[in-house]
Formats: sequence, C-alpha cells, structure tokens
Amino acid sequence: MIYNRCGSSGLKLPALSLGLWQNFGSVDPFENQRTMVRRAFDLGITHFDLANNYGPVPGSAEENFGKLLRTDLAPYRDELVVSSKAGYWMWPGPYGEWGSRKYLISSCDASLKRLGLDSLDIFYSHRPDPDTPLEETMGALDFIVRSGRAHYVGISNYDHEQTARACAILRDLGTPCLIHQPRYNMLDRWVEDHLLDEIGKQQIGCIPFCPLAQGLLTNKYIDGIPSGSRASKVCEMKDSLIHEANIERVRELNDIAKDRGQSMAQMALAWLLKDSRITSALIGASKVSQIEDSVAALKHLEFSPDELDRIRTIINS
Ligand SMILES: NC(=O)c1ccc[n+]([C@@H]2O[C@H](COP(=O)([O-])OP(=O)(O)OC[C@H]3O[C@@H](n4cnc5c(N)ncnc54)[C@H](OP(=O)(O)O)[C@@H]3O)[C@@H](O)[C@H]2O)c1
Repeated sequence: MIYNRCGSSGLKLPALSLGLWQNFGSVDPFENQRTMVRRAFDLGITHFDLANNYGPVPGSAEENFGKLLRTDLAPYRDELVVSSKAGYWMWPGPYGEWGSRKYLISSCDASLKRLGLDSLDIFYSHRPDPDTPLEETMGALDFIVRSGRAHYVGISNYDHEQTARACAILRDLGTPCLIHQPRYNMLDRWVEDHLLDEIGKQQIGCIPFCPLAQGLLTNKYIDGIPSGSRASKVCEMKDSLIHEANIERVRELNDIAKDRGQSMAQMALAWLLKDSRITSALIGASKVSQIEDSVAALKHLEFSPDELDRIRTIINS
C-alpha cells in the first residue's frame, strides 16, 4: 500500500480507502462483509468510510462495522482511520438531516454508539445546507473535535466557494479542515472546473468517491448489464450512467487499459491518483476479488503523455 499525506496535516491515508455505502447493510450477507473488510485491511487499506445513513437499513453499515471492530479488528483500532458523516436524511422531523448543530452533534453521538467507539478519526458534514449558516455547521464540527468525538473534520459535496468559506471558518475556530470528499471519476469531472484548485490552495486532502462510477469504469457493463450488478438493482444508475455513449467510451478506455497491462478499474484508479492533490480514492466493492483488483492498480500508476492524450480525447468526446 502507498500512504499519502492528507493535505498539509499530519495524517496519512492509504491511496485506496474502502467505503461501506453499499453491500454492508443489514440486508447484505455479514460473512461477505467480514471477508471484504479483513482482506482490505490485510492489503493495507487502513481507512474505512461510513455515514450515518449507510445501509440499508440506515445505520446498519455502522452497526455491522461496529461488530467487526469489536471482534476481528479489536486489536487494531489504532491502525485504523474510521470516518462517518451526517447531512442526509436520517430520522423524521426537522432535526434529522442537513447541517444544524442539533442534528450534527446528535447524529455523531448515534454513529459512535452504533460503531461502539469513543471517537471517530474523521467526521464530515455530508452536504452543504442552504438554510443553516455555515458558521453554525462549521461550529458544530469544531465542537465535535473539541469535545473528543472526532480527531479531524471534513466536508463533502461542497462546491469551491462553499469550500473556501468553510475552510476559513474552521481555520479561525482552530480546527482546520482535513479533507474534502467529492464525487470524481473519469466520466464525472466537475471538480476540475474550480474545486481541485481550491483544495490545492487550502492545502487540504481530497478523497474522491465513486472513483469507478459505481462500477461503470470496469469491464462489467461492456456487453450489457449482468444480473446481480449494482446497475441491475439501482434504476437511476441504469438511466443516468449506463447509456450507449458511456459504454462506447469505456470500450475505448478499456483498450488503453489492456495496452497498459491493467484492468479497466485499475486504470480508472491510477488516472485519479496521478494528481498529487488526490490523497486517496474511495472505492466500493461487493466481493473480495474487486478489492484485490483495485489494489493491484498501485503497481502501475504512471501514464505516458501519449496515453494521457488518448484518454483525454475519449473522455472529452
Ligand atoms: N460523500 C458522499 O456523498 C458519497 C456518495 C457516494 C459514495 N460515497 C463513498 O464512496 C464509497 C464508494 O462509492 P461506490 O461504491 O459508488 O464506488 P465505486 O468504486 O465507484 O463503485 C463500486 C462498485 O463497482 C463495482 N466494482 C468495484 N470494483 C470492481 C471491479 N474490480 N470489477 C468490477 N466491478 C467492480 C462493484 O459493484 P457491483 O455491485 O456491481 O459488483 C462495487 O460495489 C462509498 O462506499 C462511500 O463511502 C460517498
């Protein structure tokens, strides 16, 4: 594993981190979760990313990971970076989502309880709240650190202007922002417009989520939607991602990956990690072999100028 410094902080993160958004809920086989987490850790993936609402049912991914922390991972707590977030809908009524102090602190407490931990390593505001003053949301993050509930804080899904303001408020409060978690992959490059520059300017880390576009940036959809795949279960993925133009792009990208001696997934991850502002790519997985495939990407991270040109032509088309 390669460990990268997270912005200008003292914390290093593995170049690949494992997210528990899908496949770690109460509806998913626990033994498969256990095998994936254990194999990931053995491969050097020290960072596991959660949120209050991951499941289904919401909260159950934290409960399941909490079970593993108490059993298989118990001796290794200090070798792990565990993150969670609050921002999306978690419980009914006006205090169960967005960015108020009341919601963030209560939700952080509930996450700690489900995980069976005294503190998280990173706690995130999961999304900006248009109706709550940013000072209140950032003040809650500062309190979460000062009260010992988390060691570091981060933001997710904030645009570049919101990021600049959030970082300034947190810096003034004395709890610097550690990291930004935006969606970013070869087929979704909105962060390249302004956000990556802001992240570089603020000297914070960056951990892109959906680095494989939920599986599209692998070779699994090239000949249709296989049963059991995420797209076979999630309708909106079928509509917004798995369309002919994207499949054609993936076919062409896959040819470059083959020339590089990599799988499509490996090339997609290497492509993200070539930018020094990217600390870690936050992968998901439904089986152990996918984690092994992804980690092998780290054997070949370099791109020739010709490869980058060919890739740029395809993803800009
Ligand atoms: N902050 C936010 O708002 C936010 C939003 C979304 C996600 N996230 C975080 O990002 C994490 C990752 O998201 P993601 O799961 O969408 O990431 P992803 O890595 O883009 O997609 C993972 C999915 O791709 C397929 N896959 C992975 N490796 C493969 C391989 N080598 N070959 C073939 N298929 C492969 C699997 O789907 P199949 O089921 O088809 O096998 C797997 O579940 C989440 O767990 C969460 O922690 C954060």
